[in-house]
Amino acid sequence: MRAAQSDLPLVFDDVSLVAGATTILDRVNLTIGPRAPTLVVGPNGSGKTSLLRLCMGLVAPSAGALTWGGRTFSPPTRRAILFQKPVMLRRSAAANVAYALAQAGCPRRLRAPRAEELLERVGLLDLAARPARHLSGGEQQRLALARALARQPEILLLDEPTASLDPAATRFVEQIIITAAQSGTKIIMASHHLGQVRRIAGDVVFLLRGRVCEHADADDFLDRPATPQAAAFVRGELVL
Ligand SMILES: Nc1ncnc2c1ncn2[C@@H]1O[C@H](COP(=O)(O)OP(=O)(O)OP(=O)(O)O)[C@@H](O)[C@H]1O
Ligand SMILES: [Mg+2]
Repeated sequence: MRAAQSDLPLVFDDVSLVAGATTILDRVNLTIGPRAPTLVVGPNGSGKTSLLRLCMGLVAPSAGALTWGGRTFSPPTRRAILFQKPVMLRRSAAANVAYALAQAGCPRRLRAPRAEELLERVGLLDLAARPARHLSGGEQQRLALARALARQPEILLLDEPTASLDPAATRFVEQIIITAAQSGTKIIMASHHLGQVRRIAGDVVFLLRGRVCEHADADDFLDRPATPQAAAFVRGELVL
């Protein structure tokens, strides 16, 4: 059997995304390589979620080209996405993960032990039997992360995965993300938190009104932002 081709690098070549009269993303040029996590930052409405949806292949560019490892079409078998507001199946937490495992082609007999492992990894083993929709927002977020990890993705797209979590849960989830990155998963993650950028990012894509305002190594972005807008963002000022 031929080895599966890599989806990396992910290359945006003058990509625009337009819906009706709205230009959501405007001529984005970006190369996202393997290695450390890429964090996508920017104010509300700057296009972070839309960029992740393009990376996943859920929407196609209105103009320009997007390629995964040099291919213009790549089925999303090597990618997983965690949405800002995950939708849970009307089943137990364990069954939600087992479903994701089935979708990923995991043999039936391995699903229960694998689901258990994944629930443990996200700290939800005690809640395995609970209906997923009865979990708290933060717990659902972690369950969604377990479902995404079930796919053993090469690229894991995370849309503000800690937005509704308290500091302890945030630290827990960040550790899962860092561990996944260390074991070779490429993380591409939208975030609002500068602290999170400092803790996790290898490089940073700073979006402003649908444009890439800056793409730099995290240290450069944080210590020597090249644009006044990025500098204001790094100082924690409100960037509109
Ligand atoms: N299908 C759509 N039709 C029209 N406009 C859209 C559509 N999807 C997104 N937009 C608009 O595009 C802009 C970018 O949206 P997006 O959700 O990508 O931003 P975001 O950076 O993720 O914001 P947030 O921080 O609030 O999550 C917003 O102004 C949004 O209203
Ligand atoms: Mg968003």
